[in-house]
Amino acid sequence: MSTQEPQPGSPPPDACRGGIERRQVLSAAGAGWLALAGSGAVAALATARFMFPNASEEPDPRVAVGPVDSYARMPAGTVDERRKKDGVWLVRLPDRLVALSTACTHLGCILNWIPGERRFACPCHGSGFALDGANTEGPAPRPMDRFGVSVVDGLVVVDRSRRFLGGKSDRGSFLSL
Ligand code: FES
Repeated sequence: MSTQEPQPGSPPPDACRGGIERRQVLSAAGAGWLALAGSGAVAALATARFMFPNASEEPDPRVAVGPVDSYARMPAGTVDERRKKDGVWLVRLPDRLVALSTACTHLGCILNWIPGERRFACPCHGSGFALDGANTEGPAPRPMDRFGVSVVDGLVVVDRSRRFLGGKSDRGSFLSL
């Protein structure tokens, strides 16, 4: 007797194979729909993140740099370099305090303060600037830019969102001392 013979009452071999194929097709379609729904959810989250960015990632443009009294006591001609990492030099001029941007007005290289020569020098193309930010040599087309300065609760606050191009002496670009 052959083992290939169907037993009485059992479904024909082709019917079994057809059932398995249908289940495989249905489960593949389900996986496809799940993948589509998942990628849709990811896209929706990315869109929501784009539409509502986390504002706290932006650095605060205002920097409290120290008591106004300490700057008033600084001798005229002094450059406070402690805020160079924030892109700012505090310069004590004879009658005022200014906050100069450390970026060269030619192409934006970071300037260096040369104490022995009493000037700011650009390492990129040789521009030079006087203590008050005036451009004195090289290709820089204008004086150093200034940031807004004010006094809040006795502290000098530099506002890097207020930029006075070319060191304009407009209101808010210096503190009278
Ligand atoms: Fe300063 Fe060119 S970037 S001279």
